[in-house]
Amino acid sequence: MLAVERLSHSFRNGAEETAVLHDLNFRVEKGEMVALLGSSGSGKSTLLNLMAGLMKPTQGSILIAGHPIEKMNENRLAEFRRTHIGFIFQSYELIPHLTVRENVELPLVFQSVNAKDRKDRAMKLLHQVGIGEKSELFPSQLSGGQQQRVSIARSLITNPAIVFADEPTGNLDTKTETEIIDLLIHLNRHSGITFVIVTHEHEVASRTQRILQLRDGYMLENSQEGAAG
Ligand SMILES: Nc1ncnc2c1ncn2[C@@H]1O[C@H](COP(=O)(O)OP(=O)(O)OP(=O)(O)O)[C@@H](O)[C@H]1O
Ligand SMILES: [Mg+2]
Repeated sequence: MLAVERLSHSFRNGAEETAVLHDLNFRVEKGEMVALLGSSGSGKSTLLNLMAGLMKPTQGSILIAGHPIEKMNENRLAEFRRTHIGFIFQSYELIPHLTVRENVELPLVFQSVNAKDRKDRAMKLLHQVGIGEKSELFPSQLSGGQQQRVSIARSLITNPAIVFADEPTGNLDTKTETEIIDLLIHLNRHSGITFVIVTHEHEVASRTQRILQLRDGYMLENSQEGAAG
């Protein structure tokens, strides 16, 4: 599903170049749920953004469902992202003036899916993530955990091959964090969705099937099986 090969990345600031990721090699299989763990500044978000095609790597290759995304031009990549990749942000990134349902439908608007199908698919997902009754409210009328459920539904509406989540529970209290992780595990087990989840939290990581661990931009070799594996 995902193959990362000899991936390195540096940021350039004027004349200065800072290497952030060093020669990473790993795979994520279809239906896996993987945690990407590491301390602050270890390169987790950089790696996630590269894998989701939000930036181009300095070196190496990222294959999603066999397609090397670093070779795609802007238009092709934007189209590929819209149809194959889901993304969940720590801060939800919902559009405030759209209703919950409209937020979830939004990725389909770019795919010229008709209004009735969009609505049906959005409502089905909203029920699946447990907030069907909130569909006509605005994001500001929801709790943090509920807003993250909306963002999870939005990430799934295009039936993506893989979903990346950057600290999806980072803004939530412990109880809500557990509920959101329960939901992601449920979606993984019952709908076969492949997830890569960035987290600081060992508790979150311990519930995934596998842990990939970054330290100062290097992948640790002892990336192990989690409790749920
Ligand atoms: N656009 C950028 N320009 C320059 N350096 C950057 C840029 N983005 C990230 N970095 C640097 O890359 C390193 C890794 O950052 P990254 O955001 O990937 O870490 P992280 O593991 O996600 O940290 P956190 O847990 O705090 O979110 C840091 O040293 C950061 O300063
Ligand atoms: Mg980060």
